[in-house]
Amino acid sequence: MSVHRDERRLTAPDILARKGGVPIAMLTSYHAHTAGLCDRHCDSILVGDSLGMVMHGLETTVPVTLDMMILQGLAVMRGSKRALVVVDMPFGSYEASKEQAFHSAARIMKETGCGAIKLEGGVRMGETIRFLVERGIPVMGHVGLTPQSINTLGSFRAQGRSPDDWAPIEADAAAVAEAGAFAVVLEAIAEPLAAKITRDVPIPTIGIGASAACDGQVLVLEDMLGLSPRVPKFVKRYGDLGPAIERAVAAYAEEVRSRTFPGPENVYPMKKAT
Ligand code: KIV
Repeated sequence: MSVHRDERRLTAPDILARKGGVPIAMLTSYHAHTAGLCDRHCDSILVGDSLGMVMHGLETTVPVTLDMMILQGLAVMRGSKRALVVVDMPFGSYEASKEQAFHSAARIMKETGCGAIKLEGGVRMGETIRFLVERGIPVMGHVGLTPQSINTLGSFRAQGRSPDDWAPIEADAAAVAEAGAFAVVLEAIAEPLAAKITRDVPIPTIGIGASAACDGQVLVLEDMLGLSPRVPKFVKRYGDLGPAIERAVAAYAEEVRSRTFPGPENVYPMKKAT
């Protein structure tokens, strides 16, 4: 078990400096409480737009708004003190122009206090990434499977399965690095391609469904805890919280119905839960 003692919050340059070193552990969180739990063990916390599916039961990340990201980003900043908090730019908040991207990213940084933003896209976003970085906004890129493009992609399929398909993904990762991003997420790409990109780009690669060849990994917390109803095949489950919660809820409901739950004399004074 690794519990961090250093209380200084990590920065984008700290993560960049980890290229080729100790792998970067990153998880998503959207709440103050889970952020506090992740903060003790992870280098970075992603307030991902996956919150649309995980918290709101949406089918895709497309409907997620800037206000939703800012609200949950603020909660995660309140709950954490050491990890670098990265907040996703939601679909529609940055693609129209680099000025639109700056306006949205500046709102996220000012209103949450987070240390960096993440946006999807490689070559097509290079100019925007450079514009943001030159103006003081640390950017994490995201290439390979880019879920915000689901309506043009058609499905959430792994990318670069055949070496014939590698070139555009390699070009995307290189463009993100050249534009000044401090790290890049590689989502759902085959291990040999992830390994090649990790060797070729000078910034840390953070894989999700992209193998241990990357410089780090990010997973959706609820997926690895066994709380999500549908989970991508590559996700290893480190917990089984869904069934555990249901068992606790069933036991509670049963005690309420049979009037066997404890009275106030057994509950007060309140004791610390964790
Ligand atoms: O929104 C998210 O959780 C993400 C990860 C899948 C990388 O972008």
